[in-house]
Amino acid sequence: MNKKKTPSRAKNKESGKQSVPSKKQETKIQSSGKNQGGSPAQGKRNLKVKVKSARGRKLSSTMWLQRQLNDPYVKRAKEEGFRARAAFKLTEMDDQFDLIKPGMVIVDLGAAPGGWSQVAARRAKSEEGRSEKGKGQVVAIDISEMEPIAGVEIIHMDFMEDEAPDELKKALKGNAADIVMSDMAAPSTGHKQTDHLRIIGLAEAALEFAIEVLKPEGAFLAKVLQGGTEHELLALMKKHFKKTRHVKPDASRADSSELYVMATGFKGRSS
Ligand SMILES: C[S@@+](CC[C@H](N)C(=O)[O-])C[C@H]1O[C@@H](n2cnc3c(N)ncnc32)[C@H](O)[C@@H]1O
Repeated sequence: MNKKKTPSRAKNKESGKQSVPSKKQETKIQSSGKNQGGSPAQGKRNLKVKVKSARGRKLSSTMWLQRQLNDPYVKRAKEEGFRARAAFKLTEMDDQFDLIKPGMVIVDLGAAPGGWSQVAARRAKSEEGRSEKGKGQVVAIDISEMEPIAGVEIIHMDFMEDEAPDELKKALKGNAADIVMSDMAAPSTGHKQTDHLRIIGLAEAALEFAIEVLKPEGAFLAKVLQGGTEHELLALMKKHFKKTRHVKPDASRADSSELYVMATGFKGRSS
């Protein structure tokens, strides 16, 4: 296996300057409820279940459990058959910006456990059993294993491997994509700057791939961290897309520095 990295893939752990999105750039989404309803609590998460600390359980685990039990998005994900509360982040962003349409070709990078892929498959109508006419296509990749999802072709692979873009293109069967979306995030190191650099490296690699496979007018969406190092990423997005914005959906925890960059109106490969 050729381990030689392309420049931006190799750049994963370095480079970048500080960039804090202005209030103007950052959009707080109020879900309009397209297809699957609005956000469950519109940001209100009153504590109803208190978890007692138990012997052998770390305080951080108790806090995590308490947060899960009181999180309306976790409850609603269970009720609506989504594998992850993250499904509501994409749902809200799509409700607001109308990205996904039936018949679209979508690439989901960092897809496990599969919440975004489920939303994409439902909305692009790629699920098996639907008629070929207007049937969408969803291709997903993750370094972790993922249970199958109807209408989603899953690749179990590190996206930063040199072979990953070609594997994805093979799965696309020569089709250009309408949307390339990345929720990729490496596990937190606890060191803020390292986490920022890693997530930007992933987003930059995702953007490079998007530029290779998107149709003209296509869209790109990627997770970054607030206060991150995204100058180069934003400059490249602005060069290749008509509109670029930052988005923080309600379903993204308020205490998380997670943020999404969204670019629409891909200008085409020659730009
Ligand atoms: C926040 S989770 C994604 C949640 C997903 N959007 C959902 O709705 O279920 C981030 C994912 O990125 C994946 N990831 C991180 N680095 C990756 C890489 N280099 N290649 C592929 N997947 C990666 C992780 O394994 C993890 O599953």
